[in-house]
Amino acid sequence: MNNFIFHNPTKLIFGRGQLRELANEIPKYGKKVLLVYGGGSIKRNGLYNQVVDILDQIGAERFELPGVEPNPRISTVRKGVEICKKEGIEFLLAVGGGSVIDCTKAIAVGAKYEGDPWDIIDKKVVPKAALPLGTVLTLAATGSEMNAGSVITNWETKEKYGWGSPLVFPKFSILDPVHTFTVPKNQTIYGIVDIMSHVFEHYFHVETNTPLQDRLCESILLTVMETAPKLINDLENYEYRETILYCGTMALNGMVQMGYAGDWATHNLEHAVSAVYDIPHGGGLAILFPNWMKHVLTENPARFRQLAERVFHVDPTGKSDEEIGLEGIEKLREFWTKIGAPSRLADYGIDDQNLDILVDRAMKKGEFGRFKKLREEDVRAIYEQSL
Ligand code: NZQ
Ligand code: ZN
Repeated sequence: MNNFIFHNPTKLIFGRGQLRELANEIPKYGKKVLLVYGGGSIKRNGLYNQVVDILDQIGAERFELPGVEPNPRISTVRKGVEICKKEGIEFLLAVGGGSVIDCTKAIAVGAKYEGDPWDIIDKKVVPKAALPLGTVLTLAATGSEMNAGSVITNWETKEKYGWGSPLVFPKFSILDPVHTFTVPKNQTIYGIVDIMSHVFEHYFHVETNTPLQDRLCESILLTVMETAPKLINDLENYEYRETILYCGTMALNGMVQMGYAGDWATHNLEHAVSAVYDIPHGGGLAILFPNWMKHVLTENPARFRQLAERVFHVDPTGKSDEEIGLEGIEKLREFWTKIGAPSRLADYGIDDQNLDILVDRAMKKGEFGRFKKLREEDVRAIYEQSL
């Protein structure tokens, strides 16, 4: 293990009916509240009205930024920053999935910065201050509700980057499984793939002596794989939603990644695809991850064997580490296909026409990945395998 300091300041407020806690939390931070949300799901399922009622009860002065896109755009961040500066907003409340939360995080730092918020996303500038934010999560996937990361797209330049700052840990996040009942089947599947992918990004690291971290990761994978097939056939089941929601937060709130840094190459590969084609993040990961795994298998076959045996229950008798590892990767592909995730870029109508652009976008910040550093030829090979 590496030395580490762990500090996660987000207050997690989990369970049925917990929305009422908004009334206790928001007044700690201010009266002028910017409510940030997406394309309308919270209006259709009634959550918007519940939130507004509570904001009215506590006498908050409410401003709104609706219409945050999936794969949120810097143009929307700029709109939010403008409202914050003009109205003197004191607190940001994100109600939605990872996109709404990520957009809100970028608004939080943009509101305290004189220049263009893209400078922060592009890592030209390190943010020095932020408005406080809280979240009401409506979709289990990204872990953004309890981490300091955010991913923003610049649609004009077709760039999509992750950035982060301890300043944007949500002050609190409210997670009621009931708020995720209306997530449609496809988005539920993408969320499941994203959660598992975060665990895989951790799992393929190069440190030694991480037995507890390995088993924490494997527990999340086993739990998700046990629950996911039941959930996608019973979308309003409280217990299944509860399990997946908790897994999503645990997969990317730092709890399983102490003492080592994960790989994160596949997320970089996916962000380039969704920057150019605007596909759902989890859909892109389902296509790319098994191909990344096959590409890097020989780096450390024993690691893949461990995953294959412990999570995919591959019988190791008479097989090499590489053969066992490969069987595990194939079982992962089978599992994702079984629950309805895509397996080829062609599933989104993507062919080799813009392959050069994809490679260019992925390589924009240079070679990447810690388990294996990917160079241009690796990136191209993985995309070609994924067509
Ligand atoms: O916009 P609305 O109308 O709310 O609809 C959304 C959207 O169309 C819908 N939805 C959300 N909750 C719903 C619901 N529909 C019905 N009922 C509900 N309760 O689902 C659609 C997708 O929402 P989105 O927020 O885009 O999904 P997700 O949470 O998967 O977020 C994806 C974004 O997060 C980034 C991704 O790259 C992508 O941009 N990521 C952020 C990370 C982070 N901050 O730590 C890490 C991740 O790896 C990821 O990269
Ligand atoms: Zn992800």
